[in-house]
Amino acid sequence: MMTTDSQLITIDNQNLVFHLHNQQISYLFRVIPEIGQLEQLYFGPAIQTPIDYHHLIVRDLRPADNQLTGDYTSSLEHIQQEYPCFGTTDFRQGAYAIKYPDGDYISEFKYQKFEITPGYLNLGELPHARYHDETATTLTITLQDAYSPLQILLHYTISQENAIIIRSTTFRNLDTTTSYHLQRALSFSLDLPDANYDLLHLHGAWAKEMQIERRHLMTGRMAIDSDRGASSHQHNPFLALARPDSTETQGLVYGATLLYSGNFLGQVEVDNYDVTRISLGISPTQFDWLLQPQSKFQTPEAILTCSQAGLTGMSQAFQTFFREHVIDQRWVDQPKPILINNWEATYFDFDEAKLLKLAQQAKALDLDLFVLDDGWFGHRDSDNGSLGNWSVDNHKLPAGLPHLANEINKLGLKFGLWFEPEMISLDTPLAAEHPEWIIGHPAKRRSHGRNQYVLDFSNPAAVTAIYNQMAKILHSTPIDYVKWDMNRYISEAFSNYLTAEQQGEFYHRYIMGVYHLYHRLLAEFPELLIESCAGGGGRFDGGMLYYASQGWASDDTDAIERLKIQYGASLLYPLQSIGAHVSAVPNHQVGRLTPLSTRAAVAVFGTFGYELDLTKLPAADLTIIKAQIQFAKRVQPLIQKGQFYRLKSPFTSNTPAWEVYDAFTKNGLIGYYQVLSPANPDYQRLVLRGLDPKQKYQLSEIDINHNSIISTVEVFGDELQNIGIILNKDYTNKAAEYWQRPQPYDFASRLFQLKPTE
Ligand code: GLA
Repeated sequence: MMTTDSQLITIDNQNLVFHLHNQQISYLFRVIPEIGQLEQLYFGPAIQTPIDYHHLIVRDLRPADNQLTGDYTSSLEHIQQEYPCFGTTDFRQGAYAIKYPDGDYISEFKYQKFEITPGYLNLGELPHARYHDETATTLTITLQDAYSPLQILLHYTISQENAIIIRSTTFRNLDTTTSYHLQRALSFSLDLPDANYDLLHLHGAWAKEMQIERRHLMTGRMAIDSDRGASSHQHNPFLALARPDSTETQGLVYGATLLYSGNFLGQVEVDNYDVTRISLGISPTQFDWLLQPQSKFQTPEAILTCSQAGLTGMSQAFQTFFREHVIDQRWVDQPKPILINNWEATYFDFDEAKLLKLAQQAKALDLDLFVLDDGWFGHRDSDNGSLGNWSVDNHKLPAGLPHLANEINKLGLKFGLWFEPEMISLDTPLAAEHPEWIIGHPAKRRSHGRNQYVLDFSNPAAVTAIYNQMAKILHSTPIDYVKWDMNRYISEAFSNYLTAEQQGEFYHRYIMGVYHLYHRLLAEFPELLIESCAGGGGRFDGGMLYYASQGWASDDTDAIERLKIQYGASLLYPLQSIGAHVSAVPNHQVGRLTPLSTRAAVAVFGTFGYELDLTKLPAADLTIIKAQIQFAKRVQPLIQKGQFYRLKSPFTSNTPAWEVYDAFTKNGLIGYYQVLSPANPDYQRLVLRGLDPKQKYQLSEIDINHNSIISTVEVFGDELQNIGIILNKDYTNKAAEYWQRPQPYDFASRLFQLKPTE
């Protein structure tokens, strides 16, 4: 067998069989010689390159179906494909659809060549895997259409270090005169040979994002999507297929996500022979890209993983990938500033004196960054106006923003500012000067959301105008951090900038405009830390993480609700990207009273901060908060670099728990929470994971409110992984009378830290 062998890609040159492999995964496909189509052979846990591949080909005689050649086995309906097209003997949903000048959709893309290039693909401003990885290798397969000068380029990237395959597709029009309509262009499609899977995904709504749902597949289609102009609160661009017997810790799980923040479709289709087609990419709803002569269209990258170590294996592969190849490296190792945000402290009601009082208190407690949220611009005393008028409100801040920022800097705090760059209110000069920059058809109904409208970011002039306003402020004011919000979705989509024929390009061009603004701001202000937000977690995705290294996970700041939200987000996103704050009680979203210790013990497993009026708290609470901040600073390196283990789910347990462990430093942090307090409780123990079995550790229970140790025991790793931490131990208190015991309470939490014993 003649082979082309890069370290990670083995190709049988005669038979055109391609095997991408590393120590963890294998991905195998071939060219069908008779028809030039690509056939999927295997994706799963690593196998050696097969000696022969013929036995991997699945065929049966199916005379009743449409066939490509003269036999009964060539129907694409029954072939597991790599990048299928609907209607060409395959009646399942395709990965792409091209409308030809005659109005037909009949394509015939055949294998032409392959190419292997080192490294990841550089997709410009479209988020993509990045940073040097000397083992990363990309295989590109070129398919040539038989009926036009169109080409499809399928890209596959694999590297040594992680169980990840990156897939994306480029459509190229080599014609010099003719345009084609690309009406469906998913990032990938994959046919798996059986249907014995559960579909697992994250759904939600405002203030209840990232809820995990798991259902067995059925024959037919199950889909998640967003056609809202952002990836949305409703469905995260992520889906997993898990064997029904797979659990958090073991069993086969496939995961897929997108480096993209706009409309998307994730779909699983089970056909009548139990083949499962999974696909993910830009939503085809109202998508119609005019592929002009000599132009190309690049899909977002889809990130695929496969693990036999259950959901944990999948999550750790995604989290490591995001940390090492998506998030800006400057923010991966560097400690994130611990912030105070004034939103839930003041809402729109503030002036400079009030803000400085809050900042002084924040500094006294050793916080790092003061974030001024919504309400500092135009005449914004409510959410009813001024968006797009990014000039300071002289009534609230008569001395101006630079003055406020300087005063805050003088206190020893960094200064951060809220923007909602994509939005426009009708009462602004910008709306009066450029009504054509507002998304909507001039002669038709246009709805508002939170009293506001959306700027047409598919129009570069609108993006530049917002860039100029923001850059002016960022140049004149010392700003270290920007919170970039996006508080409504796009409906009645219409761009006055695009031609009638190009309206189907609007949603993608819009999000590319958003990325362009991020790109320009970061090029001009490279030190800026940006936190993305969309009414909480309405645009929390891999595309945003490329530009904004942290995202505000939810407007629901209640610690108990946050257990689910942060747990759900951890299915794929690293803790260091999940914004989590301690807020006031009664909680502003649900009215719940939770202990200050629990609020911090939940938020510390994210990008930590405070969002409450520190000036109104009793002295005892301030002392506690100061200790909590010291603790958070101490454990921050662990939160940033450690692996996350979900121990008990808040979706199914009254006592959820999780663990972060850094195998290099052998430090760990474990959070255990009790939602409701039962009378006469059961015995509880917490079995830890990922430790070094032979290692002797100091296991200490932590009092986060005093940044102190309650008790310490010396234990071996194997003890903790097999016996666990025993949580009922009132035997130590032999003298105690049941009736004199400390009162139990709802919403309690306990924290444990692990350190290696020298
Ligand atoms: C959104 C954000 C909040 C806050 C408000 C301000 O809801 O998610 O954190 O910034 O907007 O209007």
